Amino acid sequence: MDKFLINGPCKIKGKVKISGSKNSSLGILAATLLFDKPVVVKNLPRVQDIRSMLYLLKSLGSKIILSKDNRTVKIINRKRMKTFCDYAIVKKMRGSFLVLGPLISKFNKAKISMPGGCLIGARPVNYHLAALKKLGMNFDIKNGYIMAQSKGRLKGSQIKFAKVSVGATTNTILAACLAKGTTHIKLAAREPEIFDLTQFLNKAGANIKWSGRTCTVVGVNSLSQTTYTVMSDRIEAGTFSVAATLAKGNLEIINFNPKIIETELKLLKKAGARIKQGNNKIFISGPEKIKPIKNIETKEWPGVATDMQSQFMVLMCMANGKSIITENIFENRFLHVGELQRLGATIRIQKNKAIIEGNTKFIGAELMSSDLRASVALVLAAMVSSGKSIINRIYHLDRGYENLENKLRNIGVKIRRVK
Ligand code: UD1
Repeated sequence: MDKFLINGPCKIKGKVKISGSKNSSLGILAATLLFDKPVVVKNLPRVQDIRSMLYLLKSLGSKIILSKDNRTVKIINRKRMKTFCDYAIVKKMRGSFLVLGPLISKFNKAKISMPGGCLIGARPVNYHLAALKKLGMNFDIKNGYIMAQSKGRLKGSQIKFAKVSVGATTNTILAACLAKGTTHIKLAAREPEIFDLTQFLNKAGANIKWSGRTCTVVGVNSLSQTTYTVMSDRIEAGTFSVAATLAKGNLEIINFNPKIIETELKLLKKAGARIKQGNNKIFISGPEKIKPIKNIETKEWPGVATDMQSQFMVLMCMANGKSIITENIFENRFLHVGELQRLGATIRIQKNKAIIEGNTKFIGAELMSSDLRASVALVLAAMVSSGKSIINRIYHLDRGYENLENKLRNIGVKIRRVK
């Protein structure tokens, strides 16, 4: 199993280019199942989750033609497609559950493994299933699989989620796109990746409109041949912004619209970073002394992303005072805390709050990755620790960060991958 060796403390200087958004690509790739005509998707990140999604589409019958650099894919569906998604695929990547909406809408049946919980929380799919049921999907759960079918075309409906869910909103939009009539989705997630998805679908002839948290999907008969460029990854951009603030950096982040992470950039300014926003770029330099932030709370977009929580925690460990981070989205997303404590952090957990003492002098150690975002926090902490750190199980990182070690090495981090 691959590991990272990191020798700290490092200073950051240079330029980094942000890759395509993993989460946006996953929704858009799932959406390609709705097409009879070829679809071209550009700016895919070269990460494991995208390879897994393409593998899944191929197993369903799609023809996948990848460009030489693996960033552009042309997808051509067959007339007859398979509708079975195996446990082996779904357990590896929960994002594969996003094919349920398109499969049921286009082929009126699907057999897909229930995703089950994961380390960061129970992560049920009850909202996905309830919404799809309202559109006309019937289902049973048998042997860990959802056996779903519908009698002909789905029908538009009124859906009101009890809580904002990115995945359930995506699945519902995908199912409603080719349904008969209009679907109103209230309390929809409006994360930038979902806007990207609806922009892609509208470009292909869908009729989707937004008004605040209500998404209205007027069903169309079919989608037309389309080429679309996926947005850049806001969590990757946010992670590099934190890295620069943390490591007294001087960093230019290119290929990214700063407005998308304005909330996170405001927090970094509070922590002392100097930030200049350009056209599709960010200049960021880190302070000598990082200031604590009394209360960082994760929330749905435009709030602070839960996917940025662990990175902010590392930053607050280095602040010269006490901070509190409240996690409002997932019930068990403090897995990095134990590992940060091994590097010397003083953090207490009280329910969904982490109380961070600050003034930590991180000292390198051997660490274990637990999930995608927790793992990147360990990389950031190791980068500012004195001495050598080893980070095990970096396959979690490979799921969602493209070429992290090369990007970091290019800006001055002493990082190496070993087998
Ligand atoms: C997506 C993102 C993930 C991000 C998360 C929150 C992808 C592939 N993943 O995950 O990176 O951290 O949004 O921004 O885009 N919930 C239910 N029932 C449901 C669905 C969700 O109770 O049917 C709960 C979840 O357990 C969680 C909350 O709602 O507590 C939000 O989850 P959701 O927005 O659905 O996250 P994902 O789509 O899984």
